[in-house]
Amino acid sequence: MEDQSIDLVVMNSVAQYMTPEELDGALLNIRRLLTPSGKLVLGDILQPEVGMGRDVMALLSFGLRHGFLKDALIGLISTALSDYRQLRSRIGLQRYSEDEITAKLTAAGFAVQRAQTNVGHNRWRMTFIARPPVVR
Ligand SMILES: C[S@@+](CC[C@H](N)C(=O)[O-])C[C@H]1O[C@@H](n2cnc3c(N)ncnc32)[C@H](O)[C@@H]1O
Repeated sequence: MEDQSIDLVVMNSVAQYMTPEELDGALLNIRRLLTPSGKLVLGDILQPEVGMGRDVMALLSFGLRHGFLKDALIGLISTALSDYRQLRSRIGLQRYSEDEITAKLTAAGFAVQRAQTNVGHNRWRMTFIARPPVVR
């Protein structure tokens, strides 16, 4: 894709599945693609100190609030019995503190701001808005 051809990139709930090197490569690519006034929304970043219990609680309370608690429970049970659960336990998910992900985004050439709330339903995860820095 052409340089500076995209106004908005949303990467939500993906970074945790990438190696740190893959994420660095993706951020550089996104930085290249964004227009000077463009924006990257990087959502659902897992923090090092927040474990799987919080993910379970977040999904159940989301289901309760929006009338799909039974389906959320069924989803959790099928996930618990699936490869995903085993993979998650074996490989783990990639986690970053606010400082760590800010440093990654800055190294890729972005000005960074943490959003007040996560873009996804899980309020224990973080969202960042990253922009090309303003050149004066
Ligand atoms: C929880 S889903 C998020 C879906 C996303 N928000 C969307 O709307 O398509 C996680 C996504 O990460 C992708 N993924 C997993 N490992 C990846 C990797 N190493 N590089 C790029 N994408 C990856 C999966 O294919 C999956 O689509």
